Amino acid sequence: MKPLIEHVAIEDLPWEALGTNGSRRRVLGVDPETGRATQYVDIPKGWQGGGTAHYHDAYEEVFVIKGDVTLNGRDYLGDGSYIYRPAGIVHGHDEGARAGCFCIIRTGGALELNLVPDPEDDEEYVLFETDDDRPFVLDLRTRIMPWHRVDDESGRYRRKVLSASATTGAATHLVSLPPAWQGRIALTENDAWEWLVLAGEARIGGITAAAQSYGCRPLGTPEAIIDDSIGGASPRASAITRNSSPSRVLPKPGSPRM
Ligand SMILES: [Fe+2]
Repeated sequence: MKPLIEHVAIEDLPWEALGTNGSRRRVLGVDPETGRATQYVDIPKGWQGGGTAHYHDAYEEVFVIKGDVTLNGRDYLGDGSYIYRPAGIVHGHDEGARAGCFCIIRTGGALELNLVPDPEDDEEYVLFETDDDRPFVLDLRTRIMPWHRVDDESGRYRRKVLSASATTGAATHLVSLPPAWQGRIALTENDAWEWLVLAGEARIGGITAAAQSYGCRPLGTPEAIIDDSIGGASPRASAITRNSSPSRVLPKPGSPRM
């Protein structure tokens, strides 16, 4: 399991080199047994990838915070772009960046690079199926995606469902809390949770989580509540939350399915 992290400011974590072409990362949470990792990645301006398509044996989830990056040399991901790529999908035919980018990359295991020097297609394609029922999402433009209003016992706020499993309840959400919001979003004990505050501030488990901070509550950690957005500096607080439990389906009335 990933260790419990109540709160950490991303800028307090050390950089380490990622690959050989100048990219670097800050590891936010990692499970040393499985290699599952959540990392904050900095891809430099003008970056060029290896130029060879590849696939992974684990899923790969990407959220671009700022900047641009391409995987095929033609289409560029931008601010707010989101990917959920199950294992076994050939991609990365011609990776590069113009402006460079900061992104969050979350993986379902150690991300070994299985090279495919002669890909069958010049677009991403499925090499083998897995039992992961979260659908393949390629460049969801979350900035232009409509917010879904939540109004239930957890309070009134807005949410975008970026990807979700219909069977396990594993999901990734963008959440927007209005200024001075008071509510009760439970980070339940029977689920594993990770979050990243993109802007504003929120009180999570009694701790003030500022912008650009991260937290992780592995399965079995006593419940914590998100109950306040302090507001003030920013019009809203946004967070990516994640529930990877096989036992719980998140209530998501009317939320888009992808
Ligand atoms: Fe990859």
